[in-house]
Amino acid sequence: LNAASLADVLRPGAQGGSARAYRAAYHAAVVTGVAAVVAETQAEIAADWGSLVDAAVWLVVALFAVDLALRLGVARRIGPAGAWRSPMTMVDAVAAIGVPAALLAGLAGPEAHLLGLVWLLKLGRYAGGLTTLGRVVRNAAEPLVSVLIGFVIVLMAAATLAYVLEGKAQPEAFGSIPRAMWWAIVTLTTTGYGDVTPHSPLGRLLGGVVMVCGIAVFGLWAGILASGFVDEMRRRDFLRNWDLVAKAPLFRDLGADVIAEIARLLRRREFGAGAVVVRRGDAGSAMYFLMAGEVEVRLKPQPVRLNDGAFFGEMALISGAPRNATVVATRPTLLLELDVADFRALAGRTPPLMEAIYAAARDRGLVTPEAAPD
Ligand code: CMP
Repeated sequence: LNAASLADVLRPGAQGGSARAYRAAYHAAVVTGVAAVVAETQAEIAADWGSLVDAAVWLVVALFAVDLALRLGVARRIGPAGAWRSPMTMVDAVAAIGVPAALLAGLAGPEAHLLGLVWLLKLGRYAGGLTTLGRVVRNAAEPLVSVLIGFVIVLMAAATLAYVLEGKAQPEAFGSIPRAMWWAIVTLTTTGYGDVTPHSPLGRLLGGVVMVCGIAVFGLWAGILASGFVDEMRRRDFLRNWDLVAKAPLFRDLGADVIAEIARLLRRREFGAGAVVVRRGDAGSAMYFLMAGEVEVRLKPQPVRLNDGAFFGEMALISGAPRNATVVATRPTLLLELDVADFRALAGRTPPLMEAIYAAARDRGLVTPEAAPD
């Protein structure tokens, strides 16, 4: 077992069978461990199943100790210097050592087991979306903080006004600004427990304004995060597409600006073996560039196979006629999809590319008066 192949098993996103099996075991261990610790806090479960919970916890601790040792070994042998000093290694270390250390320190079993909730953090390693979320929050930090400051201003103003308006009548709930803050935050977050409510007309008016402000604040927050996510996804797709487009023979000779424009327009689509990409007789809504894999054009009498670098689906876009053949992926296939509207927009600007696409369509038997680029 050498370090490089081990590293490949441990790497997030690795595709091999052993990598998948390892990830499955890893996630199963997290789920088992956390479920055991959570269940143990129910007295009846602790009483009836205590030894099973103990066994599960120890098993998970042992698995994560092995996981830690493998990762440290790989980092030391082939990682860059200091690779082991990542936050994730800290999580791995606490996951392996936390519970035994707490037991050694003299905590009782169930309390020591609570440290096992750190296992949840190990899920972060293989959750690509969490990394994206982290980046989105970092990128949008400035607007998020601005909204947070607005939130604090409204909170303080609401608590102060509630104290002024309701403090005399309800000293328990509104007798000081800190007391009034409970009502303010429950109302501003639109949680509205209703345990404390203003009674005076002005107090109620204030309540209404605070509720509306609360919705505005969370709406803004959600909007900032959502648009950050979209930006991030777009950037990622753009980079991945750029790579593919710049390497494809059909696009290689175009200028960098045109490649960038095409990379922005194309959408990645993956198809499994046997999946139908376009169906004969359907209206044409997009054409496809084949980046990896193979498709079969179901023509009679002889089907035609297309490989990397080929494209298809152009005929219906050019002629406006229905698809003239069904096209099926014969193995896992990566396509880049160009929408019909974008195809039209590109047509005027990339004469060599369009000439190649029109020429192929004519070779494939397209006969319409419009079948020539103008
Ligand atoms: P379209 O008609 O939009 O959808 C089916 C596609 O199959 C068609 O565009 C062409 O891209 C492709 N196709 C049709 N005939 C041939 C052919 N003779 N050789 C290769 N591809 C073809």
